[in-house]
Amino acid sequence: MNRLTNKQIILGVTGGIAAYKSAELVRGLQKAGASVRVVMTSSACEFVTPLTLQALSGNPVHIDLLDTDAEAAMGHIELARWADLVLIAPATASFMSRLSSGSGEDLLSTLCLATDAQIVVAPSMNQAMWRDAFTQSNLENIIEKGVKILGPDEGQQACGDVGLGRMLDVDQIVIEVANLFESHALNGCHIMITAGPTREALDPVRYISNESSGKMGFALAQAAVEAGAKVTLIAGPVQQPTPEHVQRINVVSTADMHAAVFEHLPNCDMFIGSAAVADYRPAQVAERKIKKGDQTMTIELVRNPDIIAEVANASARPFTVGFAAETNDVIEYANKKLEQKNLDLIIANNVADKQIGFNSDDNEVTMISRSGSTLLPKMSKTKLARQLIEQLARHYLLSKQG
Ligand code: C5P
Repeated sequence: MNRLTNKQIILGVTGGIAAYKSAELVRGLQKAGASVRVVMTSSACEFVTPLTLQALSGNPVHIDLLDTDAEAAMGHIELARWADLVLIAPATASFMSRLSSGSGEDLLSTLCLATDAQIVVAPSMNQAMWRDAFTQSNLENIIEKGVKILGPDEGQQACGDVGLGRMLDVDQIVIEVANLFESHALNGCHIMITAGPTREALDPVRYISNESSGKMGFALAQAAVEAGAKVTLIAGPVQQPTPEHVQRINVVSTADMHAAVFEHLPNCDMFIGSAAVADYRPAQVAERKIKKGDQTMTIELVRNPDIIAEVANASARPFTVGFAAETNDVIEYANKKLEQKNLDLIIANNVADKQIGFNSDDNEVTMISRSGSTLLPKMSKTKLARQLIEQLARHYLLSKQG
């Protein structure tokens, strides 16, 4: 199964006997497609060596909060931001207590305070410790704070006792973690997404085009599948792997994209136009390569159809979401496009900022509807895509009710 493709998971290992299983867990998460970074408490290092987990994960293992070298490479705040999910397995009673009290006395508990990613805990301890009133009250408290609990299992324990307290089976943990990424917000919906640039040929070897890696649109396609949607992705020429379960249709020119969109539009519930479509194309396409001549050259361009505006004005229009990539007056231009193109929502981003623009892995956007706007602060495009899809699903369902 590749249900964790593109997911960034921090595996927190604490000092219990089940720590030896964390090696297998790293493997299992990676096999499912995740990138894994391991954070260990100092007592975990008594049970399994950091070297083992470093070799398996392919990344340095993080242990100390106050290690200046490690902090300079990837500090606790960067780690906290990097994570799509923090899985603590095994989690001892002592660690659950630290989590419950919000203590930031070691790297792992500090990271849990600093992250906005889902925290998942797989407890592992002696059955009497698990049943203890302190542990149970810590458990209730962390559940109330939004922490998800996997297990524990019942059975023979390392100390000879039998009862509840064993860490859940590694394969089961991997399955449950993958399940957590799958919302059902778009179950039964058909979503069409355009992504990447379009290319307009001047002659057999030259073209005009737009900057666009397609990363945002492909991340949206994957997030939409995870939310239960059937996804058709109309992709311009980009080097991006096709997310699993996505129907990808490759196109080159705006005319190709236009034709593919309208061919697949019937029964489509939501349209997301994230493609950087070329607004103009050369009036003539030379059959043979154009030869160099004068110092200047004039190319006559003609307007391309505005695909998203046509979709938004079609008779059985889907819920229509556009993107506005701007270098200045971002919100003002986005609002104008929302109106002029008759969109339900527009997602505005400032492409003048190199850290969040074209080809970057991060993005920061403002989602604008007719009833207001929401800023989604800088984060990875995959994380942002998941948050956007959840928001779009909410707006879409509201639009159907109203
Ligand atoms: O007008 P502008 O290109 O800035 O609008 C951006 C939005 O319109 C994006 O959602 C883009 O995918 C869509 N668009 C389109 N067809 C065009 C131009 C833009 O679908 N010809």
